[in-house]
Amino acid sequence: MAIPAQAEKPDISWGGELFAENCSECHMVPHDDEWFKARADAGNMADLDSLRTRVQGCANNFNLPWFDEEVDAVTAWMNQEYYGFD
Ligand code: HEC
Repeated sequence: MAIPAQAEKPDISWGGELFAENCSECHMVPHDDEWFKARADAGNMADLDSLRTRVQGCANNFNLPWFDEEVDAVTAWMNQEYYGFD
């Protein structure tokens, strides 16, 4: 299957916008950045794959019609902000 060029490099700043628009309802109010930093430290996510699965899961729970591009972008943004997986 051909992968579009942009899918190889997730757009991190777009991921941040998507998160702010779609995820902050639960994850910034009343939670703030400290919550995700603490979650990242707690080590519930083993690696980038499990983080991506969780992002997809939260998007599904919330009935967001996200494609892989959106999930990848938000995963990349969250990884940069909080998780720091290779
Ligand atoms: C309806 C509320 C709600 C929305 C909207 C929501 N989440 Fe969540 N999310 C939660 C809750 C509650 C947890 C904690 C579940 C638990 O304790 O395991 C969680 C956990 C997570 C985790 C795991 C954190 C960790 O390290 O354990 C990630 C990643 C995550 N959410 C990403 C997202 C993303 C991305 C979105 C936007 C698509 C989103 N969430 C939208 C409620 C929500």
